[in-house]
Amino acid sequence: QFKELVFSGVQPTGNLHLGNYLGAIKRFVTMQETHDCIYCVVDMHAITVWQDPKELNRQIREVTAAFLAAGIDPSKHIVFNQSQVSQHAELAWVFNCIARMGWANRMTQFKEKAGKDRENASVGLFAYPMLMAADILVYRATHVPVGEDQKQHLELTRDVAQKFNNDYAESIAEHGFGDAFFPLTEPLIAGPATRVMSLRDGSKKMSKSDPSDYSRINLTDDADTIAQKIRKAKTDPEPLPSEVEGLKTRPEAENLVAIYAALTDAQPADVLRDHGGAQFSGFKASLVDVAVAKLSPIAGEMRRLMADPGHIDTVLGEGSAKARVLAAQTMDAVKDIVGF
Ligand code: ADP
Ligand code: NA
Repeated sequence: QFKELVFSGVQPTGNLHLGNYLGAIKRFVTMQETHDCIYCVVDMHAITVWQDPKELNRQIREVTAAFLAAGIDPSKHIVFNQSQVSQHAELAWVFNCIARMGWANRMTQFKEKAGKDRENASVGLFAYPMLMAADILVYRATHVPVGEDQKQHLELTRDVAQKFNNDYAESIAEHGFGDAFFPLTEPLIAGPATRVMSLRDGSKKMSKSDPSDYSRINLTDDADTIAQKIRKAKTDPEPLPSEVEGLKTRPEAENLVAIYAALTDAQPADVLRDHGGAQFSGFKASLVDVAVAKLSPIAGEMRRLMADPGHIDTVLGEGSAKARVLAAQTMDAVKDIVGF
């Protein structure tokens, strides 16, 4: 019933890293071959935590530059920033009224980000998952490539879609949309790098906000920095195993093998077939080579694009115009269905 359509987003909140690339952006690029895709710089999500306006503005361009540098083609797909398409916020309000307090209360990301001082978290941070549901469903997108950390938010998106379809079943049918207006969107959490871990601590995910710069490889890092960070990455004293089972209780080794696999479009088993028995000093040297080969051209292209902000703004403006047409169709229908 629903045409296959891919949507995903990245927040412009600093330090785009290898986890964002392997878990999300690299997969966005691949999806373009088989699907119509909409990729969004989710700037309204960013301000759920205060952002310096000038820095936010720069980061919006930087994430866009990363999309383009990685190989997303804005002439064939849609690349834009969320705040330029007001239907996201409009639909989010409807979804705030569909979702239940209990659903939002269960979100582990809110608990992590709000920390102990929950009384002092923004209402927007609490409402974040309903805006995310709106981002996706305002295009009635069917597939969302994301990292593992977004699984729970995608479940909430499906719950919101289902409850809207149920609560307004009669009106949806009367307006000619059959028995469901919104699709039950599927998360695409696949490949060896759905959860890239910190290089300093195998129990924490690689994240933009980790205070240790050595915990992550940033997309803007130069070759020497990448090499240093990989050489300093935490490991254990054993050589690499030759089977993936041997990685189970070795999170740091498992993470480096997963990163190698994802960077070379291989599986961990393939990496261990070639490197099983190797010491980390040797394996890390190979990992530096593949990481630099893959990431340096992207960093270079990002620098080139960032030198011409006018071009990036044009891409975002054109993408937003295309997105607005689609979002307005959905929002017009939602208003009819709800009775506005
Ligand atoms: P972050 O989680 O770094 O603040 P976002 O929330 O903007 O960044 O996430 C952008 C995309 O990157 C999402 O699809 C998210 O699941 C993915 N992602 C973030 N961190 C990682 C990671 N360590 N490993 C794999 N994917 C990740
Ligand atoms: Na995230």
